[in-house]
Order: sequence, then C-alpha cells, then structure tokens
Amino acid sequence: MDIFDEVKDSKQKFQEELSELPIDEKAIEDFRIKYLGKKGIIKHYFNQFGKVPNDRKKEFGKLMNSFKQEVTQAVESLEQKLNEKQKKQEFFDYTLPGTRPVEGSIHPLSKTMDDILNIFKDIGFSTELGPEVETDYYNFQALNFPENHPARDTQDTFFVEDDVVLRTHTSPIQVRTMEKQKPPIRILAPGRTFRNEAIDASHYCTFHQIEGLYIDKDVTFSELKTTLYLFVKKYFGEEIDLRFRPSFFPFTEPSAEVDISCFKCGGNGEQCSLCKGSGWLEILGCGMVDPNVLSASDIDPEKYTGYAFGMGIERIAMLKYGIDDIRLLYGSDKRFLKQFKQL
Ligand code: PHE
Repeated sequence: MDIFDEVKDSKQKFQEELSELPIDEKAIEDFRIKYLGKKGIIKHYFNQFGKVPNDRKKEFGKLMNSFKQEVTQAVESLEQKLNEKQKKQEFFDYTLPGTRPVEGSIHPLSKTMDDILNIFKDIGFSTELGPEVETDYYNFQALNFPENHPARDTQDTFFVEDDVVLRTHTSPIQVRTMEKQKPPIRILAPGRTFRNEAIDASHYCTFHQIEGLYIDKDVTFSELKTTLYLFVKKYFGEEIDLRFRPSFFPFTEPSAEVDISCFKCGGNGEQCSLCKGSGWLEILGCGMVDPNVLSASDIDPEKYTGYAFGMGIERIAMLKYGIDDIRLLYGSDKRFLKQFKQL
C-alpha cells in the first residue's frame, strides 16, 4: 500500500469515526488531537512529504490539504454543536415552578406556650421572666417552704451550690415580681424548670411551666375559677368541663389541682387510654397566695389578696397533640417535628 492509499484509508476511517462521535467535550477534544495535534495523523502524513516521488508531490499536497480541511471543518462543526448543546442545558426556564427551600417549623412546645400566653394577654396579663439558676430563697424560702420541710423533697432539686438551685418551678418569679411591682399585679411567667427525676414517658429532667399571678384588693377564689374556666374553654374547647380538687402547696392557701374532662372519651372514661378510665386529666395547680408569701415580699396581706396558678407545658402539649412520650419533645427528631408544620 503506497502512501496515497494510506491517506485514503485514513480518510475513510476518519469519516467512520466522525459518524459515531458523541457530542461530548472530551470526545471531541481527543478526536481533534488525534487528527490535528502536533503528533496527530495529519501532521504524520505531512511529514512523509519527502518520501513522495517528485512528480506526485503536487497531487499529494492537494490530497493532504483537502484532508486537513475536511478534518478542521468537521472539528469546528462538532465544537459548534457542543456549544449549542451546552447553551441548551444552561437555559433556565423561569416559568417552571421552583423547588421549595427546606423550612423549619415551630416546635410544639413553643406553639403551646405562645397560644397560652396569647389567651392570657387578651385578659390583661403581661409577661415576666426569671433566672433558671435560682437561689434557695426565691425557689423555696420566700414561697413558704420551711427549712427541712418534706415539701422540699417533692421537688427533686438539682443543686448548683448549697443555696443555689436550678429552679424547680416558675413560682420564684411570683416573688421576684412582687418585690419590684406593687399591686395590682397581673402577670404570666413562662420558663424552663428542672427536676432530678427518673426519666420515663411522662417525666423528664427539664420541662416548662407557665405561672400566673394576680394580686389586688379583694381578689377571690371565684375569680381564679372564672379565669381558669375561660382559659380552658378557649384553649381546649367550649365543651370541656373542669373540676377543682383540694390540694396542698406551701405558697397557696387554699390550694387546688385542676382537672379537665377527658376530650378523648368525652369524660365517660370508658376504656380510655388517655385518662385511664377516670374521665379527667390533671392540668395545673393553683390557689390563693399564702399571706406569708405576700408578707415576704412586703405586700400587706391585710390589704391585698391574690391567686396563683402553675401549669406544665409539656403535659398540656402532650394532651393537646396526642404525644405519648415526653422525650419526643426533646429528641430533635425531624420526623417527629415535621408533623407540626401546619400548626
Ligand atoms: N409551682 C407548683 C408546681 O410546680 C404549681 C403551682 C403554681 C401551684 C402556683 C399553685 C400555685 O407544682
């Protein structure tokens, strides 16, 4: 096979390769280098020029020039096709619906807190906050827990120092508020509380409470009842009933615990897993502020009376949303939290 045949053969192969070449950046570049590169096929044949007999040099030159032109044009057209393809891929259709960014959602506890605070805001309660690390004085002593009194044990306290604790309830905010404000006082105090309890489905080492306090002249127990009726009906629904059970807290006298009628069984208790057959669900503690507590904050118990109440937010959220394990509220499991998106 003489050099002319070789070139013709090579042209043939070039055409075959060209017809099968994908429109792909790397494939086109490899193809270009293979034919037009410094060590490429075209160059290779041009280098053979000397070996061509003089009388056929012209003919060979023509053949090679046309080959080179053919390849150059083919590569140019491939590059153009590639360019168009890339442009098409880059094309952004602004009319297509967008992809939604991942959105967080409000935590069921925050939602519960906000809803409760809003109900009380509407009837004139403002918000007060207090420290989570609290002195024994505010957490116990000023609230009429006598020293060494067994009532302290019921609070399962975390101690920071001898006289410093993680607050076991939001009631110390009652005292802090009464120290700095004179009656009438009408506040709600939300916050995190801590107790050294064995953790299970309904107990956790930290939880939240909302404390309510109202001090003025002639405040009565019936006003406390009215306020709590209003709250329960607004928050849980008009059809929900409540009952007050006598109870004990060192800082209120008389004291009561409030139950609401079970909204799962409608209060009849029949085979109800939520109220365990009793028909009632406990939601808060309350009472008339003990005169000793008023005196400790320099408020004259002869002149003023008041009521206080405290509710556990986790418990209320669990009842409201049918959550059966308190630990879910602290697990940060997105699968759990996602379910509250529409709240
Ligand atoms: N602090 C009490 C508790 O944690 C609740 C409470 C608050 C009771 C105010 C009466 C009045 O259990």
